[in-house]
Amino acid sequence: MTLAHAPGKVILFGEHAVVYGRPAIAVPVTQVQATARVEPGDAGQGVIVVAPDLGRRIRLRGAKDDEPLAHIVRLTLALAKADPDPDLTITVTSTVPVARGMGSGAAVSTAIVRALSRHFGYWLSSRAISDLVFQTEVLYHGTPSGIDNTVISFEKPIYYVKDEGWEVFWVGAPLFLAIADTGVVSSTREVVADLRQRHQAAPSRHSSAFDQIGEIVVAARASIEQGELEVLGGLMDQNHALLQRLGVSCPELDRLVSAARSGGALGAKMSGAGWGGNMIALVTEATQGRVDMALRLAGATHVMVTKVR
Ligand code: MEV
Repeated sequence: MTLAHAPGKVILFGEHAVVYGRPAIAVPVTQVQATARVEPGDAGQGVIVVAPDLGRRIRLRGAKDDEPLAHIVRLTLALAKADPDPDLTITVTSTVPVARGMGSGAAVSTAIVRALSRHFGYWLSSRAISDLVFQTEVLYHGTPSGIDNTVISFEKPIYYVKDEGWEVFWVGAPLFLAIADTGVVSSTREVVADLRQRHQAAPSRHSSAFDQIGEIVVAARASIEQGELEVLGGLMDQNHALLQRLGVSCPELDRLVSAARSGGALGAKMSGAGWGGNMIALVTEATQGRVDMALRLAGATHVMVTKVR
């Protein structure tokens, strides 16, 4: 049996604008994990992927090309130069909430690539894993920037620019982030496609918001490196206002963002695609209890605190 894991992620700054070439910052969230287990199967069964949490059982033989779980298995087997349909059962479980902006699809794909390549004794670099996972991100999300597969495969805080590359950067003072779930499921593919349509209809209006977000991301990186938490909180608030202007927030996210600020957070914003999913708030060890309570009272279905360093 071969087992492998992959974390979730949150985007700290720059979601959506990153699809249009502006920078963004994302961090892994290790409290949530996707796990893939590869075991020998019955003779002649071929590959079967079982995802009990999703109520899914996929037989590779006959699975459509646009089925993301089958696609990532096929890509990995091809790269590892393995039999294209070996007798294996791959069981996928995940505590990364699905369709909540925490990279569940990329985490599951990454865990599968890691487990399957290890099973065949085929070493893959983090970059090779990220590139493979990107190909399934296209199936999940349509036009992904590539930030999710990158931060999840490398498991480091990253400053990312689509088609240019990414850098790990210095975190001057540990960041405590409260991550709160609205409980509202949302499809990244739909939100990104909707914004794309609106952007095509009014390019200069949206480009100006993307530019402003890009400037916030550059300033945020400097604040993180210098440990200027007050400044960073203010930048989160500004980024949220621009995401509201882009029409990707929603009342549930806005309510949690306001509650976090009233509870003493240094700043707060939605995270990921929006229209539901999670928001993040910058807290301190002293304020995290109060902010957690404020978020739950405002309707958060789940709150966790992660430390970024
Ligand atoms: C999704 O986690 C982040 C978006 O910016 C889409 C992307 O970058 O592919 C909304």
